[in-house]
Amino acid sequence: MTTNLFQARTVGELYRLIKNTLSESPLDNFPVEETRMIIEHVLGIHTPLLFAHPETPVSADDVGRVENLLDAYLGGTPLPYLFGEWGFYGMTFAVTPDVLIPREETERLVDGALQWLKAHPDVGEFVDVGTGSGCIGYAVLANAANPSLRAVLVDASAGALSVARANLNRYQLESRAALVQGNLGDPLPPGQRLILANLPYIPSARIATLAIAAAEPRFALDGGPDGFELIRKLLVGIRGKVANPFLILCEIDDTHAEIACDFSRPLFPSARIAIETDYAGKTRYLRIEG
Ligand SMILES: C[S@@+](CC[C@H](N)C(=O)[O-])C[C@H]1O[C@@H](n2cnc3c(N)ncnc32)[C@H](O)[C@@H]1O
Repeated sequence: MTTNLFQARTVGELYRLIKNTLSESPLDNFPVEETRMIIEHVLGIHTPLLFAHPETPVSADDVGRVENLLDAYLGGTPLPYLFGEWGFYGMTFAVTPDVLIPREETERLVDGALQWLKAHPDVGEFVDVGTGSGCIGYAVLANAANPSLRAVLVDASAGALSVARANLNRYQLESRAALVQGNLGDPLPPGQRLILANLPYIPSARIATLAIAAAEPRFALDGGPDGFELIRKLLVGIRGKVANPFLILCEIDDTHAEIACDFSRPLFPSARIAIETDYAGKTRYLRIEG
């Protein structure tokens, strides 16, 4: 046991003890936000009640469950894997160690797709390559104006696809999405109009230096020697399968802007090629629009 939570008799005391424990831990964490999430997830006590009634009693069993979760978190398991779910684009997706934890910066792919679909309302289907939990594809389906829009979600990993299937059921999107196990764009027929991809893009040598690499699946992170290998292969494979007007939108590493443009231009000579930035101003998205 790494914490002193057993002293807590009320939710207010529990809050203070968890927050102190997290503040003192060497993890790069967000103690206030994470304490609130832990209490909400384990005890089902939402923030307004927590702060309005800190005197609410907590049982020894509840404290024990929080303590086990906190021990696992301090031991290196990310909270989303401990909770079994995580938020993305206002939705909540099942996650397991078979999939990447959905990231806030990836929401920009969803925004980009929804904007493009608004301008191209005749497009009836899109693709999400490297779908993982399915978060990108399902967020687009759930927020698109066209209620009959369909998605093809591709991933090479059977484990990832079983998580994507759980999310398909969670949001009852069975009639609007097909899950396909395969390599990059290989399973796709010609005529593609909207291709979204958050493929692994971290250069192999950098993986060992990242804390996330210990917990998240390597095949969801490792983009080969320079990190751009899978995106390169996707673009080569998809080049002959797009039909005008089309949009290819890929999340990239912030060091890849130049490689991405230089590689894409000769492949798609008549397309508009742009690099877009995230909220922090980093170059994080490759946009190829034909
Ligand atoms: C960075 S994760 C992204 C997951 C999800 N789209 C997201 O944004 O959270 C990359 C995903 O690509 C998948 N992947 C890796 N290599 C692949 C390949 N050759 N073909 C298809 N999918 C691949 C991995 O299994 C993983 O689920």
